[in-house]
Amino acid sequence: MAAGGKSLVLVLGLVQLWVNMGISTRAARSSHSRLTLSHKELWDLNRTWVFHGPQGALDLHTMILDEYQERLFIGARNALYSLSLERINTDSREINWPCTTAQEDECLMKGREKSECANYIKVLHQYNRTHLLACGTGAFHPVCAFIRVGRWTEDSAFYLEADHIESGRGRCPFDPNSPCVSTFSRGELYIGLYTDYWENDAALCRLNNHSYTRTERDDRQQLNEPKFVGSVVIPDNDDQDDDKVYFFFTEKAVDIESGNNAVYTKVARVCANDLGGQRMLVNRWSSFTKTRLICSVPGPNGIDTHFDELEDVFVLKKKDEKNPEIFGLFSTTSNIFKGYAVCVYHMDHIRAAFNGPFAHKDRPEHHWTAFEGRVPFPRPGSCASKVNGGQYSGSKEYPDEVLRFARDHPVMFQPVHPLHRRPVLLRTDGERRLTQVAVDRVEAQDGHYDVLFIGTDNSVVLKVITIYNKETDTVEEVLLEELHVFKVPVPITEIIISAKRQQLYVGSEFGVAQVKAHQCHLYGSACADCCLARDPYCAWDGVTCSRYYPAGSHTKRRFRRQDVRHGNAAQQCNGLQMNGELPQKAVEKSVYGVENNSTLLECSPKSPLAKVLWFNQRGTDKEEVRADDRVVKTPHGLLFLRLRKMDAGAYLCQSAEHGFVRDVARLTLEVLEEERVDELFHRAEEAEEEGGGGHHKPPPCPLPALPHGATSKLWYKDFLQLIGYNNFHKVEEYCERVWCSDKKRKKLKSLQPKWRFSHGQERRGRARGDHHRTPRHALGT
Ligand SMILES: *[C@@H]1O[C@H](CO)[C@@H](O)[C@H](O)[C@H]1NC(C)=O
Ligand SMILES: *[C@@H]1O[C@H](CO)[C@@H](O)[C@H](O)[C@H]1NC(C)=O
Ligand SMILES: *[C@@H]1O[C@H](CO)[C@@H](O)[C@H](O)[C@H]1NC(C)=O
Ligand SMILES: *[C@@H]1O[C@H](CO)[C@@H](O)[C@H](O)[C@H]1NC(C)=O
Ligand SMILES: *[C@@H]1O[C@H](CO)[C@@H](O)[C@H](O)[C@H]1NC(C)=O
Repeated sequence: MAAGGKSLVLVLGLVQLWVNMGISTRAARSSHSRLTLSHKELWDLNRTWVFHGPQGALDLHTMILDEYQERLFIGARNALYSLSLERINTDSREINWPCTTAQEDECLMKGREKSECANYIKVLHQYNRTHLLACGTGAFHPVCAFIRVGRWTEDSAFYLEADHIESGRGRCPFDPNSPCVSTFSRGELYIGLYTDYWENDAALCRLNNHSYTRTERDDRQQLNEPKFVGSVVIPDNDDQDDDKVYFFFTEKAVDIESGNNAVYTKVARVCANDLGGQRMLVNRWSSFTKTRLICSVPGPNGIDTHFDELEDVFVLKKKDEKNPEIFGLFSTTSNIFKGYAVCVYHMDHIRAAFNGPFAHKDRPEHHWTAFEGRVPFPRPGSCASKVNGGQYSGSKEYPDEVLRFARDHPVMFQPVHPLHRRPVLLRTDGERRLTQVAVDRVEAQDGHYDVLFIGTDNSVVLKVITIYNKETDTVEEVLLEELHVFKVPVPITEIIISAKRQQLYVGSEFGVAQVKAHQCHLYGSACADCCLARDPYCAWDGVTCSRYYPAGSHTKRRFRRQDVRHGNAAQQCNGLQMNGELPQKAVEKSVYGVENNSTLLECSPKSPLAKVLWFNQRGTDKEEVRADDRVVKTPHGLLFLRLRKMDAGAYLCQSAEHGFVRDVARLTLEVLEEERVDELFHRAEEAEEEGGGGHHKPPPCPLPALPHGATSKLWYKDFLQLIGYNNFHKVEEYCERVWCSDKKRKKLKSLQPKWRFSHGQERRGRARGDHHRTPRHALGT
């Protein structure tokens, strides 16, 4: 209770700060999510489980999902883990794969840090049905090995094929911090990495046991100090020989004209079956082309703000394998202004850029132009396949003219613009860095929605939907949930979604968290709460807010209510009070204030996104309260800076969200003169002497231990308000002296288990609002 009192003082302090700084309520709320859950709350709600690894710090570098074997495989430092998808912290298996003492000593002798001289598993792929391919840095001696895994769920094999450890050169970087991306497809490893000890040779490679193809060494036109971010194999059509591999990365601009430090995001493309040329471009890509990925917002002065640093890329696979959607998470490269954006790219636009004109320069100091001369056949960048005529069985047969052109024209003239030519999500508040993005496509009543799960540098996963409005050509962001998945603030480095299980697997150096993608009942059981949440996973089913299934049972369908696009609860939930829904009751109570002092009429709607309206009620008339320099509308309620006698009366607090209006609190304000304060204290004392007070008012004891804490808290806080917040210690002392004898404490202690339960209830209530809630708010929910 004492803690509750302090937080109240704190709240008032914040309120004052806002008032003083003139920060508007709207601005303070704009980036709030509907639901914010701390790590502890997620834990208490059984929404998360965390795997920490045996040493407590996992140093995770890669992870893959295997839905068939129902395992999550993790590459960490000196170890690999196999975890249960069902419950990540149970039934884990471990492979220790450290480097040898000799390797470690050699690494240290070269002047490397001790932390670097370990085997960091950075490459991990499903190799075939029984084996994984794993490659690690091996203390700057890259190594690869096969890991035997179970073929079925019951088969619990998980061990390293120790007699087949191979060199990992070209398949894993030397440095644990070196960026590296890879994809495994039909026995081939496609990888972007720095292949050497000194990190000079960046390359995009294709490797199998018999051959390899890579980018040219030291060719800055192809790659210029790249940071690799993602890779994927995407078919162009039904002919497998036409499959393309896409690499996403940022790199330094080559042209002097763009300035020295300019960094751009690029997408490069090669044919999956490219073996290079026979006399020219031997073991080099004959099909390499790349172009710029643009993610920008138009500025007021006609100058666009560009987000040029790619942080993460997510490929949203669809039934049509040829046309996944590509989500890029970008940041600005500016040191002064750090902003983040998510842009979405369609394959049509990416293909159009690669099929468009090649970029061309007559001399190095010239500008790029679209190449308008004759392009040889087969067009560089197209693959040796039946679809392309079938004259060539492989790139080795390509005419020299084609190879020469390909070597001289690695860059396409047209960049790729995002869908709607703008980001779907923008973050410029500078609050935290965004590190990861993963997307789940969810079927809702009014179409499908892409739910974005965005990882930050402080352990948070943001769950967001973005809604494009065609008429106004604008994008609306709806922040559904803010989940604090780890106990300590660490950058999130991986997010994998299991659509089948509706779970997220979130990785950081600290551990791996499994988190349920939704928990609909947390929005509240009322139709309006569920509807206003606009979570496409959730719908009101006639009784409560629950998971929405597009092909759900017909009996329940009749009652189903969901409106993700508009959140129109007024329309969706009109008249539903009769169908078993409990009407949302407004909080009703009296508040005492002392004349000439400040008083807060508290009212926080369940949703932090709702607009609050205040009315002064006189009989049946109500009049909106006008704010002035004495009466201030704050996020926590109506604040009277200097209370007057005439302020006494009935107040109504309403919340409005998407046109849905409801009563949140009815408050009766009594304005007292100082003399009456003593009188009230007296009354309470008498109630105590009568023996427990019966159904009246239990003593306002400042201990968080009353099973019927509710009423007691109200009392205690009313007194706080009476005395004035600054004198809150005085009240505490008073209560301590009068009501909290040792006898009483013992009695309260015996009630502890019961209290725990009620405390848990309260936590859940708090989860719906923001962080600054005081106990009274919680009671109001
Ligand atoms: C969480 O799970 C435990 C044990 O499975 C159960 O006792 C508890 O009630 C659950 N908590 C919630 C909030 O569902
Ligand atoms: C998978 O690959 C490993 C390593 O090459 C091999 O030993 C094993 O027999 C293969 N398994 C299958 C099912 O092909
Ligand atoms: C790859 O080739 C080498 C040498 O030809 C051979 O020793 C090795 O077993 C092969 N590995 C696989 C997985 O086929
Ligand atoms: C409140 O302030 C007004 C004006 O400063 C004063 O006239 C009045 O006596 C004060 N009332 C009390 C109860 O202190
Ligand atoms: C009014 O508030 C001030 C400061 O908040 C406090 O010191 C004073 O005791 C209060 N007066 C009454 C009558 O409660």
